Amino acid sequence: MSKTYGHFDDANREYVITDPKTPFPWINYLGNEDFFGLISNTGGGYNFYKDAKFRRITRYRYNSVPMDSVGRYFYIVDGATVWNPGWKPCKTPLDRYECRHGLNYTRITGEKNGVRASVLHFVPLGVKAEIQRLTLTNRSSEKKCLKLFSYAEWCLWNAATDGENFQRNLSTGEVEIERGEWTAIYHKTEYKERRDHYAYYSVNCPVQGYDTDRETFVGLYNDLNEPQAVLAGHSADSLAHGWSPIASHYIELELAPGESRDFIFVLGYAENPQDEKFENHQLPFTNYQLLTSLGERDHHIINKARAQEVIRRFATVEAVEAAFAELNALWDELLSKYHVESSDERMNRMVNIWNQYQCMITFCMSRSASFFESGVGRGMGFRDSNQDLVGFVHQIPSRARQRIIDIASTQFPDGGCYHQYQPLTKRGNNDIGGGFNDDPMWLLFGTTAYIRETGDMSILDEMVPWDNEPGTEVSLLEHLRISFNHVVNNLGPHGLPLIGRADWNDCLNLNCFSNDPNESFQTTGNKTEGSKAESLMIAGLFVFCGRQFCDLLKAKNLPSDTFEAEIEKMCKAVEQFGWDGEWYLRAYDYYGNKVGSHENEEGKIFIESQGWCGMARIGAELGMPEKALDSAAKLLDSEHGMVLNWPAYTTYHIELGEQSTYPAGYKENGGIFCHNNPWVIIAMTEAGRGNDAWTLYKKIAPAWIENQDLHKVEPYVYCQMVAGKEAAKPGEGKNSWLTGTAAWNWLVISQHILGIQPTYEGLRVNPCIPSDLKQYTVTRKWRDAEYVITLLNPNGKQTPDTPVILPYEPGKHEYTITL
Ligand code: GLC
Ligand code: GLC
Repeated sequence: MSKTYGHFDDANREYVITDPKTPFPWINYLGNEDFFGLISNTGGGYNFYKDAKFRRITRYRYNSVPMDSVGRYFYIVDGATVWNPGWKPCKTPLDRYECRHGLNYTRITGEKNGVRASVLHFVPLGVKAEIQRLTLTNRSSEKKCLKLFSYAEWCLWNAATDGENFQRNLSTGEVEIERGEWTAIYHKTEYKERRDHYAYYSVNCPVQGYDTDRETFVGLYNDLNEPQAVLAGHSADSLAHGWSPIASHYIELELAPGESRDFIFVLGYAENPQDEKFENHQLPFTNYQLLTSLGERDHHIINKARAQEVIRRFATVEAVEAAFAELNALWDELLSKYHVESSDERMNRMVNIWNQYQCMITFCMSRSASFFESGVGRGMGFRDSNQDLVGFVHQIPSRARQRIIDIASTQFPDGGCYHQYQPLTKRGNNDIGGGFNDDPMWLLFGTTAYIRETGDMSILDEMVPWDNEPGTEVSLLEHLRISFNHVVNNLGPHGLPLIGRADWNDCLNLNCFSNDPNESFQTTGNKTEGSKAESLMIAGLFVFCGRQFCDLLKAKNLPSDTFEAEIEKMCKAVEQFGWDGEWYLRAYDYYGNKVGSHENEEGKIFIESQGWCGMARIGAELGMPEKALDSAAKLLDSEHGMVLNWPAYTTYHIELGEQSTYPAGYKENGGIFCHNNPWVIIAMTEAGRGNDAWTLYKKIAPAWIENQDLHKVEPYVYCQMVAGKEAAKPGEGKNSWLTGTAAWNWLVISQHILGIQPTYEGLRVNPCIPSDLKQYTVTRKWRDAEYVITLLNPNGKQTPDTPVILPYEPGKHEYTITL
């Protein structure tokens, strides 16, 4: 039995970490609207508003030594002992440690020498701030005289320039300090000129001191585990002038035996309209002391009304508890939309808590900010966000609706797409541009899922611009039509879709031909002119999503025959030119040579085309999907899941691009790219193979992880990649949290295994389960109705003979269905 670092607490919907030295920082996300925080099990991480690149509030040092440097730290000085509730950064051994990651909150508790410190972190609904409720309790029999220091390090807003433009940003930092019944440190760098936003860090009491200059607080040659102010036993009341502004409060307190005291810290962000940016010098309360970096020459005192409102609102424990209860009530409500009861505790846990939670996080973050995504590289991905919203749409459909409009607004008039856009501006990202020929199809995927969930056809009439250009608006339905045609208008010599820069596999760069180590595979110019590079993955995607589009048209009584004819043609092209004998080919390269064929020495078979063509059941009469599944099981599968391709490439292939740059067994080169395992699982359910589907589902689902040391990353969420069978350490996970795996496995388990499928006709019950699953009950709130469906499987079947359709009707309905 390998070592464990924590366990699930299902009743509280928490993962409980009991050893701070996890094999990698195990993190959580605070906030699910505009204000976010990433928080590790030792308090590391940072905050941002809407956009992890352009509105970074606190600083983080990625890939640092030691790992996970900088966060929200509290230092407690008790006699000669200095310690932190979350163990880091002092790493003083604790008598007790526990971190509970819950749904958008984290509670870290440490105990040392009879003092317990418990910190609850969360972002209240509708508030642009992280609340930190710190409770200090004296559990000893003696009076305790303690000193408390807080620590947060400001980021100068743009996380990219903050990490590189030191000649400027080491001179610009400015703060204000407000001392009264509460103490707030304001970060106002660049506020006097173009910025209309500021950040603040407050505590709900007067303090004995403060620091706002990092060097003064920490000491230039000290680490965060030995800040010189803490070692000296008092702060230095420093005022930041450039360099690195921070916020630290210093509080002295006494606790009688058994006594507890709460401190409420608020780390927030506020925006002011241009004409209300500055204070008119009528100070709003007495006992007020204001200090600013510029002192008396400062003509630009922040108008703090918006921050003060939040600080006042959360002045009491009661207010914090009420806001925390509201957050928990929201999660009660969100999770009540789909709930399963079965004898399988681990499945219940994935379905009822963690998979749904991760879908919210990927919906909010896309691929922008995690401990593997720096927040500066990527904004919202076109394909990523469409997939994410399919996992989330049942939770808050109105937000999915807005997302669809935002995404579609970045499209080009020919249906092509910006590959990414920035959440702050909602504009397409020119650095990466477009040309990924799978992108348009994902809009069909996202939009049709939204309408099946909500029945809201009105979204199709929304007028949506091209490339955010006012005056270019056409209906969303027209965007869908043009998206469909983007594939039809870009077919290659075999009548299969041209791949463009890449398809879903960003690293299969068939037109890139890069021999310059200084250029990026993702952004460099492509040789598309004269290219014969075609993608079987897009072919399957087109057939699958194209049919979803046709179903929508039919539900709207619109003609769909021309689209159906194109889909039919595509199926024929795949049967004729996309079949390798035992499995679907992956692609044709620039010259028209096969990729993913038994004729190739490496990369003989790929997962994406088996998944997509299998889901779309192309060549079903010829037995193709079943054969492809058998081949995938034989050649791609392993103990930890199916690898992306096999054998992995061991040399660089200029005609394949980035995929062949990864060491064998990692990422897109033979890694278990969790995202595409669910495609195969769905293809299995489409083939009626419930036992196989269940086996593969369990291989990659976090609740079944046995070896936490090997898996390394969080055992409660999916990660993008697990090292494949050809890697040095098969089974080692990387890139946790932000992956389409969350949405896809949600589809797998909720719709394809448990089989509750929203359709235009009604709720279709079409399970494909392991034969030993004898019974389960799903409660599904769908539109204004609630269905309680009990499935009985007395005869050990895997699928029903025919699916049952439950008509849509508002109200509560109970059904028992026997397989
Ligand atoms: C990453 C990207 C996604 C891409 C996948 C495969 O997860 O976010 O867009 O499809 O990698 O390359
Ligand atoms: C995907 C891939 C990664 C690649 C990136 C480029 O995330 O997994 O390897 O660098 O796409 O956008």
